[in-house]
Amino acid sequence: MGGIGEESDFLGPAVYGDTIADIYDDLYSPRHGQAAAVSAADFLHGRAGAGPALELGVGTGRVALPLAASGTRVIGIDASSRMLDKLREKPGSADLELRLGDFGDLTGDGLPAQSLSLVYVVFNTFFMLADQDAQVRCFASVAAALRPGGVFVLEAFVPDTTRYDRGQRVEVAGVAEESVQLNATVHDPVAQRVRTRHLVLGPHGVRTYPVDLRYAWPSELDLMGRLAGLELTERWGGWAGESFTAASATHVSVWRKPEA
Ligand SMILES: C[S@@+](CC[C@H](N)C(=O)[O-])C[C@H]1O[C@@H](n2cnc3c(N)ncnc32)[C@H](O)[C@@H]1O
Repeated sequence: MGGIGEESDFLGPAVYGDTIADIYDDLYSPRHGQAAAVSAADFLHGRAGAGPALELGVGTGRVALPLAASGTRVIGIDASSRMLDKLREKPGSADLELRLGDFGDLTGDGLPAQSLSLVYVVFNTFFMLADQDAQVRCFASVAAALRPGGVFVLEAFVPDTTRYDRGQRVEVAGVAEESVQLNATVHDPVAQRVRTRHLVLGPHGVRTYPVDLRYAWPSELDLMGRLAGLELTERWGGWAGESFTAASATHVSVWRKPEA
């Protein structure tokens, strides 16, 4: 691992998914499984109607499958062929239109301009874009893909730099009978990056699952929206319509493309 903040160090778009695909559903289902996904799908269906909707970083279909089941046509893009393979094994996946690609720039993905009623990105996935430029470009290409009146929905954590002690944090994320999961993170407040390695220690030895994020506060995301010609219309503290307050750890934000 090189010095903090070096652009070349940031993981490529397929690395996270290709590494974690085999354990992704087991790892996140206790806290982010069926109930959370259905709540997200209800919220999204209420904004998308029949669609089409596009999920950025669709992964194993945690949210896309219940959203499609509720009657919205869903397109999913992901950079990881292994995550998409896991999704294709699931019932209902044939109803999704899946594309292998980088959501950092949708212009090369053959999506007709101004065609989508909804673009959404959940579970901090937007922060997997390496820097502010990449995130600004993504907002612009989302705006180009939305039809007038269409919306962009983003779910992410609210950054909390007090989590880190002198630029680092190690936490115990889970303990099972024969294994333990540790999360080791370094924080660069200048680049607004956290680089985490999930370590699973068990009878098999140590397995490492990497994730790099470039975080942004809601205010910076709002500015990206304004640069892209989108207007903030809603901000919630969760999918069930919880109020967004100074104590909120996450936000669900909605930006709308104005009618022509
Ligand atoms: C945290 S997972 C979220 C998966 C799914 N949305 C969910 O909520 O369970 C992030 C997903 O985004 C994908 N991803 C990360 N960066 C990407 C990029 N630049 N372009 C396309 N997919 C990307 C990963 O492969 C992974 O499947």
